[in-house]
Amino acid sequence: MTVPATMAAFAERMGGLVFGGDYNPEQWTPDVWREDVALMQQAGVNLVSVGVFAWASLEPREGQFEFGWLDEVLDLLHAGGISVNLATPTAAPPAWFSEAYPESLPIVDNGVRFSFGARAHYDPSSPDYRAHAARITTKIAERYQDHPALAMWHIGNEYGTTAYNEAASVRFREWLQQRYGSLDALNEAWTTRFWGQYYSEWSQVGVPGAPAWSNPARKLDFKRFTSDALLECFQAERDIVRSFTPNVPVLTNFMRFYGNADYWRWAGEEDAVALDIYPNPAEPDSHVAAAFNFDLMRSLRGGQPWLLMEQSTSAVCQWHRNHVKQPGRMRAGSYQAMARGADAIMFFQWRASVGGSERFHSAMLPHSGTEARTWLEVKALGQELAGLAEIAGSRIEAKIAICFDWEVWWSLGLGGLPRNDFVYPDLVMRHYRPLWEANLAVDVVNAHSDLSDYRLLVIPNAYLMDADARDRLTAYVEGGGTVVISYFSGVVDGTNRVWANGYPGALRSLIGAHIHEYWPAGDGDQLQLHWADGAQTSATDWQEDIHLEAGRALATYSEGPLAGQPAVLENSVGSGRIVYLGTKLSDVDLGALLITEASRIGEQPLDLPAGVEVTRRNGEAGSWLFVVNHGDAAVEVELGESGVDLLSGTPVDGTLKLESTGVAIIRS
Ligand code: GAL
Repeated sequence: MTVPATMAAFAERMGGLVFGGDYNPEQWTPDVWREDVALMQQAGVNLVSVGVFAWASLEPREGQFEFGWLDEVLDLLHAGGISVNLATPTAAPPAWFSEAYPESLPIVDNGVRFSFGARAHYDPSSPDYRAHAARITTKIAERYQDHPALAMWHIGNEYGTTAYNEAASVRFREWLQQRYGSLDALNEAWTTRFWGQYYSEWSQVGVPGAPAWSNPARKLDFKRFTSDALLECFQAERDIVRSFTPNVPVLTNFMRFYGNADYWRWAGEEDAVALDIYPNPAEPDSHVAAAFNFDLMRSLRGGQPWLLMEQSTSAVCQWHRNHVKQPGRMRAGSYQAMARGADAIMFFQWRASVGGSERFHSAMLPHSGTEARTWLEVKALGQELAGLAEIAGSRIEAKIAICFDWEVWWSLGLGGLPRNDFVYPDLVMRHYRPLWEANLAVDVVNAHSDLSDYRLLVIPNAYLMDADARDRLTAYVEGGGTVVISYFSGVVDGTNRVWANGYPGALRSLIGAHIHEYWPAGDGDQLQLHWADGAQTSATDWQEDIHLEAGRALATYSEGPLAGQPAVLENSVGSGRIVYLGTKLSDVDLGALLITEASRIGEQPLDLPAGVEVTRRNGEAGSWLFVVNHGDAAVEVELGESGVDLLSGTPVDGTLKLESTGVAIIRS
């Protein structure tokens, strides 16, 4: 995937790293706007996202537009040297719209219709919503297409609403007609002879309603459809703004571990990827899941720099208890994102709101103003980033990939499985964490990615595997790749139907074994394993009645009804190898196995103090080693690297001392 010309132009315009946040001037008076611009300059802000929720301020009554205030704001920002990421305000339809078009309010999964008064209160399939969103988008693009402040388009906000409205049923039917071509094909794909769910007319097909035991193929297609329906909304607005400003990049903001939109399908539709993330300061290791999400964002567009679009300077306000970010944590988290490929560090939001449901959400400029320590930290970070322009555009290289696939996520959560407590992001994190702890560079792929850059592929619990995924995986192993794949993988095809030919149908010849039955273990059961090298360990949660064909056992059960049968096996295929884990190894054993496999491909773990994260970005101007100490104590790190720490300006020769939350960027 090449960097689009729009993003190349954006990078040139910004001339380095981007720093800023959401700016909601409609909540403030013009004298405050002036103060804002002056303070943004002090903080080194160079990009603000404007108008994300401003539809009601731009079109207070149907067809009546008020752009004067936004004209003035954009002029002020431009005069102050601040570029604008201009939003289409379509995440928050105005009250008049919801009143005039009540059918557009989404019906959620319990059958209740949303009322006006929050945000994202629209059914993405509603023709009225789409028409009005297109109209306000056109008005904005028409008006600001030549505004010199305009640097980027921010379409909508955090797309994600699932709606069970009549309009959704209509659109779902059209989507299914396109996917399957005929009702016969749909009946076949959905196995509708089961429980007499056979459809004789398209009019009978609709969104899956409340019943918990609804058809798993239908539910899976509804997940796919919901992602696509939201994507259609994005695409429609993207196409409008592009028609006015073909040279301005267009994107929207993604979320951390977000299930309602398949970001692999979305990322190629935009000019760059952007993430909103709010790691919980109360969770001592929330930076590990953050690291994974950063790696995912970078990988979605093949390693291109991405934007950290929203984070908080300190506390959020949406949880039961909202802890502050202790001094230094905001800076460390910002550099962590940069260390994993972000070229933009932005926040929600610039100035703290005095009212509304986020009045206690921290901001770059808090209620307590420029005396506050968070403001001082923001200002210091902005000034620091201004000196790091050389890093923008540089890349991260990885030989290891981990699979994160929305279709697998969805299919594991639809019920009717041998056990129904799979939490896919947690399963993925079990596999990612040891690689993170070993400071190994990891990219993220999905089941259909190009794998040619990778020597080791880690696949957590890929229950759903369609023919394309199976063929890619087979070709990868045959071509010399190593795969580690966890239990309950390769079981169903893309329609959630069990692959014929015995479990795991999609993987049987690859793993060189077949499975008679899946045996979930009882709570607390310790499954004793005996390894080929003599080690004894225990596993939990899951067993499989595995029978070897070409494969070799690496570990067998040492007691119980499966005693002597393989729990972990390997198979050689072509010039590659696959390791299949038929049970849930302990975190320690899983980690050790993954690190052993990484070492076999030449990726040696870095043994550093706990909580220290090291990554490398490479570019034309050099190579930068990022070191972030997430731990609570000062550390001395043996890096074997010499160069200059760009943040302190001091030379580093092999060893580095870092305070808690300390960061170094060593240019070598
Ligand atoms: C994001 C959202 C922002 C703000 C923020 C609060 O999800 O895009 O508008 O609500 O959360 O943390």
